[in-house]
Amino acid sequence: MSTLVILAHPNLETSRVNKTWKEVLEQLDDVTVHDLYAVYPDFNIDVEREQQLLLSHDRIVFQFPFYWYSSPAILKEWQDVVLSYGWAYGQSGTQLHGKEFLLAVSTGGPAEAYQPDGYNRFTMEELLSPFHAMANLTGMTYLPPYIEGGVRSLSDEALQASAMRLANYVVTLPV
Ligand SMILES: Cc1cc2nc3c(=O)[nH]c(=O)nc-3n(C[C@H](O)[C@H](O)[C@H](O)COP(=O)(O)O)c2cc1C
Repeated sequence: MSTLVILAHPNLETSRVNKTWKEVLEQLDDVTVHDLYAVYPDFNIDVEREQQLLLSHDRIVFQFPFYWYSSPAILKEWQDVVLSYGWAYGQSGTQLHGKEFLLAVSTGGPAEAYQPDGYNRFTMEELLSPFHAMANLTGMTYLPPYIEGGVRSLSDEALQASAMRLANYVVTLPV
């Protein structure tokens, strides 16, 4: 099972969580970490290259920090241009059918804020539903997302543990 991690963080130099996750994931066998902002600083995404990358992996991970209740902008652009009609969905758009898909997301807000009675009012499941719908439409199996909340108060030890848990999750997910 080969895994493609599509990472979207606009400033990895100042990142704590996603940078640590990236460093750990990169060491795994059969895992390719693809840093979108590094490869496409001008947002000029090579659609052919991205589609080939998708085709050559079985499991697709979107890794990103939660920005305004969604992903950083480049990942939306990536979806808009790479997941094209006739390729990823629609008439004969079956290229992603049977692949597995999961999200790895860090949030500033703590888990309890993402509840109907929390200050964000909506659950992470609700807020991430466009990604779930994307997986559905493109024929991918949506696996439970890996979410690390309240990351500002995460100790160095807890961050390392989070990275190890994610790495373990990415490679041992039930098929
Ligand atoms: C532009 C911007 C928007 C953000 N929006 C949210 C948000 O909607 N919800 C949330 O919980 N945290 C939000 N945050 C906090 C980030 O999710 C948090 O800083 C990030 O997950 C930390 O990961 P990193 O150490 O890899 O940068 C936002 C941060 C920035 C800079």
